[in-house]
Amino acid sequence: MSTSAKSSSKKTKKPGLFRRLDICFPWLKLIAVCVIGLIILLDLLDFTISKTRDPYDKIKIAPMAKHVRVSERTLEGKKIVALTFDDGPSAETTPRLLDILYQKDAVATFFMLGSRARYNPDIVFRAVKDGHEVASHTMYHQNLARIPAGAIADDVNEAQAVFREILGQSAALSRPPYGSINDHVRAHIGTPMILWSVDTLDWKHKSTESIMGYTLDQVYDGAIILMHDIHPTSVDAVPTLIDTLRADGYEFATISELIAKRNITLVPGASYYGFAP
Ligand code: NI
Repeated sequence: MSTSAKSSSKKTKKPGLFRRLDICFPWLKLIAVCVIGLIILLDLLDFTISKTRDPYDKIKIAPMAKHVRVSERTLEGKKIVALTFDDGPSAETTPRLLDILYQKDAVATFFMLGSRARYNPDIVFRAVKDGHEVASHTMYHQNLARIPAGAIADDVNEAQAVFREILGQSAALSRPPYGSINDHVRAHIGTPMILWSVDTLDWKHKSTESIMGYTLDQVYDGAIILMHDIHPTSVDAVPTLIDTLRADGYEFATISELIAKRNITLVPGASYYGFAP
């Protein structure tokens, strides 16, 4: 293109950026579009990754101020009971249970499976934010007493890695599946083991009436109640359970709150069934 042609085209019509590029280097426009596209794509990708890494952003967290620590508020002069829920978290049932506990202003301890927690980090995170305690029910719910010592350690460590990834710290307490314990389990579990004093058999009978029957028969000050938050029928029973126990003079604490209240120091590898005064 000659100088005279350039100046005459400037005088008659100012070309836009793309038209200039088209005139000089037709492929420059394509490169520019590609670069801009790539920048947008990388930005979106980064946004997606950061969302995945921070479950707090993905969910509606209940305000932390809602749960004043029970131990600072209502445990004085009360009998204490620890509600515990195993085998979750479940996207189908656990959020509803968290809603119920929130409405009833009660706390619980969740013995979660690493294999389920990994895919429900938002629920794990919400449980802690709501004032509950998250503990380990191992990674894959194996019968630890029936597998080799090395496999016990692998399972336990894999679960703890999941909890560290989601919560920034390992679970301080564990419950071996089926309450199945031998010397290898004691040696490799790495935390105190919390079993239970009241087995509601909620997984078997699947009714509020049955859960209430087993609970009221066996409950005492310092008892640990075993339930499973993966069954809708167990979640259904919780409002009645809370109301009935409160009417009987009980208040709810997490396992760690109960331990603190009873001035007990737990030993890793030891098992505990309840914390009577
Ligand atoms: Ni279990």
